[in-house]
Amino acid sequence: MSDKEPHDPYKQIQTLHKRLNYHAHRYYVLDDPELPDSEYDKLFRELELLEKQHPELMTLDSPSQRVGGKILDSFTSIAHQIPMLSLSNAFSDDDIKEFYSRISDLLNHKEFVLIAEPKLDGLAISLRYEQGLLVQAATRGDGTTGEDVTQNVRTIQSIPLHLSGDYYPKVLEVRGEIFMPKKGFAQLNQRQIDKGEKTFANPRNAAAGSLRQLDSKIVASRPLDMFCYGIGVVDQAHKKMPLAQSHSEILKQLHTWGFAVSPEVKKCDNWQACLNYYQSILSRREALPYEIDGVVYKVDDIAQQQQAGFISRAPRWAIAHKFPAEEVTTPLLDIEVQVGRTGALTPVARLQAVFVGGVTVTNATLHNQTEIDRKDIRIGDTVVVRRAGDVIPEVVRPILSQRLDSSQAYVMPTHCPICHSLAERVNNEAKSRCTGGLFCPAQRKEAIKHFASRKAMDIDGLGDKLVEQLVDCGFIETIADLFQLTSIQLVAMERMADKSADNLIQSIEKSKSTTLARFLYALGIREVGEATALALANFYKTLECIQHKNAEDLLEVPDVGPVAAHNIDTFFAQSHNQQVLNNLLSSGIHWPEIINKTLDELPLEGEIIVLTGTLLHIKRNDAKTRLIELGAKVSGSVSKKTTLVIAGDKAGSKLIKAQELNIKIVDETEMMAFFET
Ligand code: IVH
Repeated sequence: MSDKEPHDPYKQIQTLHKRLNYHAHRYYVLDDPELPDSEYDKLFRELELLEKQHPELMTLDSPSQRVGGKILDSFTSIAHQIPMLSLSNAFSDDDIKEFYSRISDLLNHKEFVLIAEPKLDGLAISLRYEQGLLVQAATRGDGTTGEDVTQNVRTIQSIPLHLSGDYYPKVLEVRGEIFMPKKGFAQLNQRQIDKGEKTFANPRNAAAGSLRQLDSKIVASRPLDMFCYGIGVVDQAHKKMPLAQSHSEILKQLHTWGFAVSPEVKKCDNWQACLNYYQSILSRREALPYEIDGVVYKVDDIAQQQQAGFISRAPRWAIAHKFPAEEVTTPLLDIEVQVGRTGALTPVARLQAVFVGGVTVTNATLHNQTEIDRKDIRIGDTVVVRRAGDVIPEVVRPILSQRLDSSQAYVMPTHCPICHSLAERVNNEAKSRCTGGLFCPAQRKEAIKHFASRKAMDIDGLGDKLVEQLVDCGFIETIADLFQLTSIQLVAMERMADKSADNLIQSIEKSKSTTLARFLYALGIREVGEATALALANFYKTLECIQHKNAEDLLEVPDVGPVAAHNIDTFFAQSHNQQVLNNLLSSGIHWPEIINKTLDELPLEGEIIVLTGTLLHIKRNDAKTRLIELGAKVSGSVSKKTTLVIAGDKAGSKLIKAQELNIKIVDETEMMAFFET
C-alpha cells in the first residue's frame, strides 16, 4: 500500500492491483517468484477487504476476480471474427522435407526462416483484450464458433486480466493453448480419488473438463496454465509499438504484454535444423513439465505466411510434426464388421481392454481386408495397438512368436452383415461396400445420425440409440421422415418420457431453420464435409443452382475436387434423392438468403451488437453469422462501445446493462427485419 495516499481507497486498490499483478506475473509467467506466498496472501486479503468496503471500486481486472464468480446455466456461443484453424500433420522426416520444398516453391525460392515450437497437448483458446482489458475468452469450438468461457479463464493465473505496459493495441486477440501441467494433473487426480470422485484419463481431458465447468470457483481450484502461440484480430496497434512483422517478434511482444510463451521456441534455417529440433525435444519429452504431442514449424515472416496462404482449414505456412504414437500389446478377441454411412464395410478388432495414448481402448480399426492380409492378423493373436492423440486406435501387427495354434485367419463377408445385400469392391477401392444403399438399415441409421448431428442440422435430443430404435420399428426410413414424427410415436420408444418426446419434437421443429451450408453438409454426400459445403453455399448461393450443376461445372468452386464434384452431381441426379429433397423442403426447412459481401451491401457496418436472451425463430449462431455477414461485429458482453442490443425472450442482466447505458435495444422481430432488407 502506498504511504503517500493512505486514505484514498481508489489509489490503495490501484497500488494493490499493481503489486499483486507484478508478483503473480513473476510467479506464474516468469517462474521466478520474489515474495513468499504468505506475503502475497496478505496483500490479497487487504485487497479483498477494501473491495468489500468499496464495492463500487471493483473492476474486471482486479486480481480478486481470479477466485471465480457466479454459476452459469450454460455457455453462450461466440463467432470467431477470424476462424481458428487447425494444422496439417506430418509423421516422417520425408513429410518435413516435402513441407520445406513446398514452402520454398510457394515463396518463389526466396530465403525463409522457420520457427519451431512444441505442440502442446491441451485446448486452443482465443482471448480478446479491449483497451488492455480481458473482455472475452472463447474456446476453439468448430473453428468458426466457440463457447464463451471468460469467467473460467479469468481464474487462470498466468493469463493477464489486463495487458502489461502502455504500448498495446486497442483491440488484441491472443491465441494459445490452455493445458494442465503433469504435476498439477497428478495432484488433481489424487484429490479426486480422496473425494471419491472420478479421475481424468489424461491432462488434456482434465484441462478440457475443467474449462467446461459452469462453476468458475471449481475452475479456480484446477491447475490450468497457458502458453500463447499467435494472434487473431488486432486493431490500432500502439504508435510506439507497431505490430511486429514476424512470428518470433510477435511472440516477444506477447511476452512484454504479460503472456507466457513457450521457452522452447527456436529459429530453424533449413529442414535439417527442424529435424534436429524434433529429435532434441523428443528426447526431452518425458522431462518436460507438460504434455506435448509433437512440434510445430511455422514460416516466421508474416508477409511470407500471407504469400503461402491457406488450404481449406489449415495454413500452408505451418505444419505439426507429430511424435510417434504410443504402442501396447493386447489380445484380439474377435473381428466384427461395421457398416458406415456410405455402406463402407470396416472390420473392427474387439480387443481386451488396454490403456494406450491416454485412454482405455477396446475397439480398433483394421481398415480393410488387404490390410488384414498384409499385416497377417488373426483372431486370437496378441496384437500391437497404437493410438496417438485423438486419432482412432489402430492394430499395427501381430506378435508372431505368441501366435496360438487356435488362431483363425479372417475373411471379410461377401454380403452386408446387416441387410445381406452383396458387398462389392468398386473402382479399386480398398473397402468393400454394401450395395443395399438406403435399403440397408445400417446405412439409413448412419445417414440419419449424420443428418441430425451437431455440425449438420443440430437436432438436440436425437441420440444414436433413439435413431436406431426409430429405424428398427419402421417409423423413419429416410431423413425426411424425421419431420413427420409425432410425440405418440416417440413415447412408444424405450426410456422416452412425454416431456422428452415434446422437447425432441420442438428441437426437430427448431432445426428447420438452418443455413444452406449446414443443410448441404447434412445430406451426407460423400466427400462433402463442412468446408466443402460452405464453399458450395458461398459460391452458388442457392440450392437450385447447385442442383443444376454438372461435375465439370462444380470444379469451378474452390475446395471442390473431381471426386467430390462427381459425387455431388450423381447425388442430385438420383430420383430417390430428389424425392427426399422435395419432402425435406416441403416440411419447411429453410435458410436465409446468402448475400454478397460487397462494401455497399453491408448495412450493419460499424455496429457492435450484443445478442441476449432466447431467440425463437432463428438459431443464435445463425443469427450471429447473418449479422456478421451484414457487416456487424457481434460481441458477448455489453459495454459503452456496444451500439445495439438484440434482446430475445427472457433477456436478463445484459438487457438491464444496455438500458442503463442508454444503448439502442431491438427485439427479435426487428432483427429479422434486418435480414429481409
Ligand atoms: S498454431 C494457424 N502452435 O494444435 C495455426 N497450434 O491442429 C494455428 N497447438 O488448435 C495453431 N500447440 O490447439 C499452434 N505451438 C502451437 C500449438 C498449437 C498446440 C494446437 C492448437 C490447434 C491445434 C492445431
